[in-house]
Amino acid sequence: MSQNNSGFKKGLTSYGDAGFSLFLRKAFIKGAGYTDSALDRPIVGITNTGSGYNPCHGNMPQLIEAVKRGIMLAGGLPVDFPTISVHESFASPTSMFLRNLMSMDTEEMLKAQPMDAVVLIGGCDKTVPAQLMGAASAGLPAIQLITGSMLTGSHRGERVGACTDCRRYWGKFRAQEIDETEISDVNNQLVPSVGTCSVMGTASTMACIAEALGMTVPGCASPPAVTADRIRVAEETGRQAVELARKGLTIDKILTPQAFENAMRVLLAIGGSTNAIVHLTAIAGRMGLEMDLQGLDRMGRETPVLLDLKPSGQHYMEDFHAAGGMATLLRALKPLLNLDALTVTGRTLGEEIDRAGPGFKQDVVRSISDPIYPQGGIAVLSGNLAPGGAILKQSAADARLMEHEGRAVVFENLEDLAARIDSDSLDVNAEDILVLKNIGPKGAPGMPEAGYMPIPKKLARAGVKDMVRISDGRMSGTAFGTIVLHVTPESALGGPLAYVQNGDRIRLSLQRRELSLLISGEELARRAKASPVEAPTAERGYRRLFLEHVLQADEGADFDFLQASKKVGKVPR
Ligand code: FES
Ligand code: MG
Repeated sequence: MSQNNSGFKKGLTSYGDAGFSLFLRKAFIKGAGYTDSALDRPIVGITNTGSGYNPCHGNMPQLIEAVKRGIMLAGGLPVDFPTISVHESFASPTSMFLRNLMSMDTEEMLKAQPMDAVVLIGGCDKTVPAQLMGAASAGLPAIQLITGSMLTGSHRGERVGACTDCRRYWGKFRAQEIDETEISDVNNQLVPSVGTCSVMGTASTMACIAEALGMTVPGCASPPAVTADRIRVAEETGRQAVELARKGLTIDKILTPQAFENAMRVLLAIGGSTNAIVHLTAIAGRMGLEMDLQGLDRMGRETPVLLDLKPSGQHYMEDFHAAGGMATLLRALKPLLNLDALTVTGRTLGEEIDRAGPGFKQDVVRSISDPIYPQGGIAVLSGNLAPGGAILKQSAADARLMEHEGRAVVFENLEDLAARIDSDSLDVNAEDILVLKNIGPKGAPGMPEAGYMPIPKKLARAGVKDMVRISDGRMSGTAFGTIVLHVTPESALGGPLAYVQNGDRIRLSLQRRELSLLISGEELARRAKASPVEAPTAERGYRRLFLEHVLQADEGADFDFLQASKKVGKVPR
């Protein structure tokens, strides 16, 4: 029996002596028809996250076939295996509730099964973060493959795509601008193919971030799911995975502080989803790196938004791909990047940018001198309402509301919001500030994307399109509006948000990065004492694990026991 380098020898501890363990293992894999020669080479695992519940991963069979081809062309042996798959719309109570579970599944299967490297295939919002978190903790050579975005559709001559246009059409329907027939017509066109949402939502943001981190082959972020380009990227990813295995290029050499800074730059420059801040914080936390939100805000002030994609701009992912994808963006952003950061190709990000060539004329990615928004898309706020910080996606907000003071209209939780938001008797006007409690990490639980509260129906009918809205939850990257998110600490843990009352005055100032509840410290303390908050609990199961261990948004909403045991630094440095 061959004793050459093979992933099949990894982790041989279970059955008596190592020789017998390998003997048994080989006997079983041969039950699937493999020869000794097939096994005597680098073994590359492939995570299969296909599921009937996950149309965002609907091209999984084709991707796996192409990855396998790439691995075999490079002389490796591919072995695919399933892990959890999580889709945004089908995961209850929220996909975020399951992200950490997927990361644990990924980490443990990477560690448990014999492999020299792994190809992580993900796409829908929580899957890529979960896979990067899990792989970061598992520590072996890893490469990310993205499933790719869906195509755009056409509704009565208008181009549409999920899910910025889903919200826009639903808003029109709520305001009674369109009827039942039209809303059901457009429902057929919003998701015209498999793949991830076609705007700069969380999925596209994480795709761009994975490439900026150096975790993908160049050009992986942008090809739509159903294109030949996507399949070629999959083949190339398989080929590269074998190289990673041969070189022993482990993930810690890629996920460095330099790489995280590049990812943060890209997040800001693409007007990316606010969710990506939570995910990047969690991934960095697995490497012992703490996210410095003030540092992110400083970075934001000097990073313009260059990518003209919905919801901040006008184009869709397939346009970004036609404009050259990440190569075009990284080239434009080059002066702000750490060019010496290593990528999974074994070359630096700077070398990859140079290899991609000079670029061409296009109108999707702007230059630093002609940005679509002069400052980064995301601002970090703080004040007595959010001592641990809050996030505002300024590039998707109404400029008129950036300096605003108003009266609080408070909803205690999601049920309260659902019961009263559309009531004609709701005491609300356009200058008020909507406040929603109990949608933080522990609150709902799982920090649902409910921060995008609907405009109360009676105001929507009167033509109101945007209002200041504040919560401890998240919002979909495909949403837009003046929406303050991730208020920390959350209300379910007795953060100041828990004590806001109807009629309180709240001040939002983007200029001063301020979010203030205009009551005295004594009054706040009096309210806290009068009605103390009881943190939510659960009897059993994963929900109990979640509630006992989930961290706040500023720590990535990871589980405390999954973070690296040693803190080694901050990002940005
Ligand atoms: Fe999967 Fe939008 S629902 S990416
Ligand atoms: Mg989303």
